[in-house]
Amino acid sequence: MEIIIAKNYRELSRLAAEAVIRQIRRKPRTVLGLPTGHTPIELYHDLVAAYQTKKISFRYVSTFNLDEYVGLNQTDPRGYHSYMRKNLFSKVDLKPENEHILDGRASNVKKECARFEAQLRKVGGIDLLILGIGKDGHIGFNEPGSKINSKTRTVKLSESTRRANAKYFGSAAKVPRRALTMGIGTIMQAKKIILLAHGKEKAAIVKQALSGKISAKIPASFLRQHRNLIVILDKAAASKLK
Ligand code: GLP
Repeated sequence: MEIIIAKNYRELSRLAAEAVIRQIRRKPRTVLGLPTGHTPIELYHDLVAAYQTKKISFRYVSTFNLDEYVGLNQTDPRGYHSYMRKNLFSKVDLKPENEHILDGRASNVKKECARFEAQLRKVGGIDLLILGIGKDGHIGFNEPGSKINSKTRTVKLSESTRRANAKYFGSAAKVPRRALTMGIGTIMQAKKIILLAHGKEKAAIVKQALSGKISAKIPASFLRQHRNLIVILDKAAASKLK
């Protein structure tokens, strides 16, 4: 594990974007694993800028998103389909057939998760996976208790996660109770992982995930067993590390 402490959120975003840009230049057919949330917003902004200035093209890139809420339409502004369209997909030359996001409205959820895993196998797995971290240590929507070998599946969201995401829904009560998420086993198979965390509200969970016991209580702690993990933190998120 390599830990990089950036001066601030801007530098964190720039470093993450540079890693993605290097990856796409080295391998135009790169398979990216992508997160949502507040943390990667400026990373996406930098990737769009890199595309606009012709530093990279997404023409041969495939993307697999980590998660989606159960029950939301693909056009629902609170869902992750809309998030990805708004922040990245509509602004670069990624082919729609190469964008993969779990369908939260699928009538057969098991089939939907199996389909996602099969598509991922078909392209040879994720080359570079970017992750954020939830305040309870979740990655994707793998909440505490998730097993290290878990596959893509439906999960029940924790109260902490529903509270954290209340801002997008008006209140915690309106946040869907369930979500679909790439499993931890699926995440661990990525060839390279970059974990991002910024802000002082992530400092405590970053400390537990990176220096506490490796356990299902803090799903992000499993990442330390990955052979190619880079953690990029800003100073505030790193402030509780020794
Ligand atoms: C959500 C997403 C996660 C994300 C986490 C942190 O619950 N499902 O993939 O990493 O929140 O979000 P933020 O970056 O807004 O703190």
